[in-house]
Amino acid sequence: MLNSILGTLEKSPTLWMNEKVWQLRQKGEKVIHFGFGESPFLPHKSIIEALKENAHHNEYLPSQGDLSLRENVSAFHKHFFNQQFLPEDIVIGPGSKELLFDILFAMEGDVLIPAPSWVSYAPMARLSNKKVIPLQTHFETQFKITKNLLEEDLKKAQAKGFNPKIIILTSPSNPTALLYTKKELEELSCVFRKHKLIVLSDEIYALTTFAPVIPASSARRTGGNLKSEATFCSISEFYPEGSIVTSGISKDRSCGGYRLGVALFPKELAWLKEGILKIITETFSCVSAPIQLAAVKAYDLKNEPLLKYIHNCTALHKRIQNYAYQRLKKVGILVHEPQGAFYQYPDFSPFKDILKKKGILKSQDLSQYLLEKEHVATLPSVAFLEDESSLRLRLAFVDYEGENVLNSFIKNKGLSFNIEKFIQKEASHIKEGLDKIEGFLKS
Ligand SMILES: Cc1ncc(COP(=O)(O)O)c(C=O)c1O
Repeated sequence: MLNSILGTLEKSPTLWMNEKVWQLRQKGEKVIHFGFGESPFLPHKSIIEALKENAHHNEYLPSQGDLSLRENVSAFHKHFFNQQFLPEDIVIGPGSKELLFDILFAMEGDVLIPAPSWVSYAPMARLSNKKVIPLQTHFETQFKITKNLLEEDLKKAQAKGFNPKIIILTSPSNPTALLYTKKELEELSCVFRKHKLIVLSDEIYALTTFAPVIPASSARRTGGNLKSEATFCSISEFYPEGSIVTSGISKDRSCGGYRLGVALFPKELAWLKEGILKIITETFSCVSAPIQLAAVKAYDLKNEPLLKYIHNCTALHKRIQNYAYQRLKKVGILVHEPQGAFYQYPDFSPFKDILKKKGILKSQDLSQYLLEKEHVATLPSVAFLEDESSLRLRLAFVDYEGENVLNSFIKNKGLSFNIEKFIQKEASHIKEGLDKIEGFLKS
């Protein structure tokens, strides 16, 4: 009786790892959790207040989303990213995850997904009866697709009888924490346009980019990079007619459990937006009214303390991520300097021989070994659409008590700030987890 598509899906590796961690913790074991990528901070108090004030709203709201919220989302995306979406082009959903699924469901054609990519894209595509075409990327090219590789992969896919129509692009990326540059996006946009691909541009981590996102309206926006730091750029700048932007409040505003995401459609794809609205009216009807009304505050450009909070959270992620990066690099693990988000995607292949002696031949073995023997939870690269044999893991550096650590960071971040001391005192799990990984490679 079970829908046969479900038979082809594995249980989500993130949830599997969480359950394992929970079981170990239930037994009183200490586990360092580098496996789950949730913001560790509380939502900003202006959002919590707005939620309380709106708790009495028990009415259904328009399926597309509350108008004042869509107005704020439109202004927010224009201010930060120079994106020109009107409130009527925007759809509010219970998380961008649901909206991504609805868009895939609403379309015809097969889906191109760069590998590595976020764990849920491929299962979503399969659930909506689409064929998945993985696009293999490489460590050397920062795990990004390139114009030439994409052309080759498209040719191969067409020769095999696939019908590629949709491509998913994530920047900054989960799992790699790396960004596409302006130049790369400009080049890719030519291929997208030539092949009439629709791009799902997942920009949920845009405001966690370590280089400050300079508001479009600011005189400081010159288009150049701030020295070595990569700045965020959206494919919608070069391919506006074919790019749907998805985002939300789960990451930079730490409201994952509120379940609210947004999708922004260009006028050229209004037909697709209409299709999504049909799905919404016949399924979840609308996002919970108190949550939408609280989110009005989360997208309010006049809410200066919130904008400062986003800035501080990202500054803290950057410090912790850099600390972890330096340590991983120092032991000889292959890893790229992170440019945003909470993750890193180290490659343990330089330790292949040592790992082989421990019976570790693939990422799943490595992740399992670290959990069972070292009590460090990670996610194996096989969960990110990568080949079984790769020896990569996704590590999320958010296992600390967010609220206290953020307050202490704001107090201490002056000139005398010493990240090693700070981590030892405030976020000791980060240090201990990295110590364990280092020790395990030496033993
Ligand atoms: C790359 C990426 N896209 C989308 C999502 C889903 O976010 P939301 O909470 O808006 O559904 C996540 C959450 O983990 C993510 O990592």
